[in-house]
Amino acid sequence: MISYQSAKEEIKQAADIVSVVGQFVQLKKAGENFVGLCPFHGEKAPSFTVSQDKQMFHCFGCKQGGDVFAFWMAYHSLSFPEALKDLAERYNVQLPEKHFTAEEKKKADYRETLYNVNELATLYFEKELTHPVRGKPGRDYFKRRSISHSIIEEFHLGYAPKGWDGLKQFLLSRKVSLETALTAGVLKRSDKGHYYDLFRERVMFPIMDLTQKKRVIGFGGRVLDDTLPKYVNTPETPLFHKGTCLYGFDASRKAIRETGRAIVVEGYMDCLALRKHGLKEVVATLGTALSETPVRKLKGIGKEAVVVFDADEAGKSAALRTLPIFLNERLSAKAVVLPNGHDPDSFINSSGRDAFSKLLNAAPSLFDFYVDQKLGSRTQDIDQKVSILEEILPILAKVRNETQRSLYIKRLSEKSEVAESVVLSALGGIKQSSGKGRFKNDIKQQFTSVNTNRPIGEIQLLNLVLHYPETVADLRGHHCRLLISDPMIRRIVDVVFDRQSRSEAVTVETIQERLDRNEDRIWLREFAFRPAFCSDREVKQAVRDFIGKVQKKKIAEAFKKAIGDPRAINEILKKKIAAGRPFGN
Ligand code: GTP
Ligand code: MN
Repeated sequence: MISYQSAKEEIKQAADIVSVVGQFVQLKKAGENFVGLCPFHGEKAPSFTVSQDKQMFHCFGCKQGGDVFAFWMAYHSLSFPEALKDLAERYNVQLPEKHFTAEEKKKADYRETLYNVNELATLYFEKELTHPVRGKPGRDYFKRRSISHSIIEEFHLGYAPKGWDGLKQFLLSRKVSLETALTAGVLKRSDKGHYYDLFRERVMFPIMDLTQKKRVIGFGGRVLDDTLPKYVNTPETPLFHKGTCLYGFDASRKAIRETGRAIVVEGYMDCLALRKHGLKEVVATLGTALSETPVRKLKGIGKEAVVVFDADEAGKSAALRTLPIFLNERLSAKAVVLPNGHDPDSFINSSGRDAFSKLLNAAPSLFDFYVDQKLGSRTQDIDQKVSILEEILPILAKVRNETQRSLYIKRLSEKSEVAESVVLSALGGIKQSSGKGRFKNDIKQQFTSVNTNRPIGEIQLLNLVLHYPETVADLRGHHCRLLISDPMIRRIVDVVFDRQSRSEAVTVETIQERLDRNEDRIWLREFAFRPAFCSDREVKQAVRDFIGKVQKKKIAEAFKKAIGDPRAINEILKKKIAAGRPFGN
């Protein structure tokens, strides 16, 4: 039986962090490292850094970081055991049982039971769809909506038949507790305490996560007629957060990467219709406004988003609301507005893929679309113009990239017929007064400059041992620890020295594991991911300098003690002269 630690190591060997992260974040080589836009916070300039050497990542912006497991956990919102299991499966590494803390295990087991309920429910809905009698309404419905058999299979579509307890009985027969099914969101409980199926007489769309296993996190279910509500979703559960997920993303990831674009539509049916016609790079919001989280995920794998909206007012205003998010997240976005009365599903089914592709390819940028909508030819009124500018300028003020911003300003000035200089100065006014943003910047700056508040020599010492572990023996042997007054640096250096004294490898990863405080781990990465302060050729000299400093310090302390004792002072002076000689003998 392999040990847990060796399984973990084996996974790390197989799961190269650059290639794992690279599946979700576009990385560019920058010096020794790879950089990209952080998937964990909104940013315009890449401060998310991945090191192949260290097999670690660190974001200089939000300070998230760690090894491949830490990435997997954070990106997919999973616990450690789940991440471990996922990666083990993905890289064909056999995992031994147990080895988690009781709490970790409890949490993982609990979530596991919820996934399990969802998977059983998916199975049930799929089986019901094929039932000769009970499944017929569902099959007929999909047929009517031109959903092909292969789409049904690929997306595990199903049918929740008439009745209040079909799923409930099925789950009971599979030994699922009703309480668990309630938490998973597939059953409801009446005031009187009766459990019943949430989805009844609805065609079912399971929603999958982005992990390898494509686990089901929730469902959407549509009525077969015009009854309201048209769609019912799984409520918020530990696994399902409607606002942050995209339908079909698991299936479209590859195509988004290949084509570089993501087509964003509003509905399940739209998503499936585009897929059926071969536009595979499509995802759907679940009827909620597009939020930062999915946009960050999209920008990790695609270069642009083409957002397709219904022609109605609701569709247009939804389009307008997404602009700030795309600008903030700096994912270039285009807007397609369909001909009146159409949604993507009806349009592609009636006009075909080529017509749809034409619209996609001719789509204006979302910004142009926005400005056109707001400043269409009908608005000539000056007051109206002013209020529209007041609406747009705060959004523009957030665009950090200057080239991009100046292009937008130019556009805006052309379309509004307001002189560019006026737009600019109005924008300046907004930026000045945006105290909140400034405050945030201040905080950020303060955080990144914490290391400069620490004694620079001590930072250099830490930097040296992290970049050149071969220096540790010498530095430790010469008591360089005495040079450190900063408690945080001392905690890190202690681990480094301790590992070296036991002949254990000194790597960022292994040091990190020994640090109890998150703050220390953050700063460890922060120091390790910054470049070495000296070059390979200067290393020896740097070591000598530090050792020299220790000796001086020792002498100074000895002097203090020896005051009034001429013989002792004499001894010290001899030592001092010796220490002053060049090293290297
Ligand atoms: P079809 O009428 O089947 O073509 O639906 P659609 O997919 O075109 O949906 P529509 O454009 O009406 O709405 C877009 C998305 O909003 C849907 O796919 C759902 O995710 C969501 N949605 C629409 N109506 C409802 C509703 O009544 N309740 C909930 N929870 N979501 C809805
Ligand atoms: Mn529709």
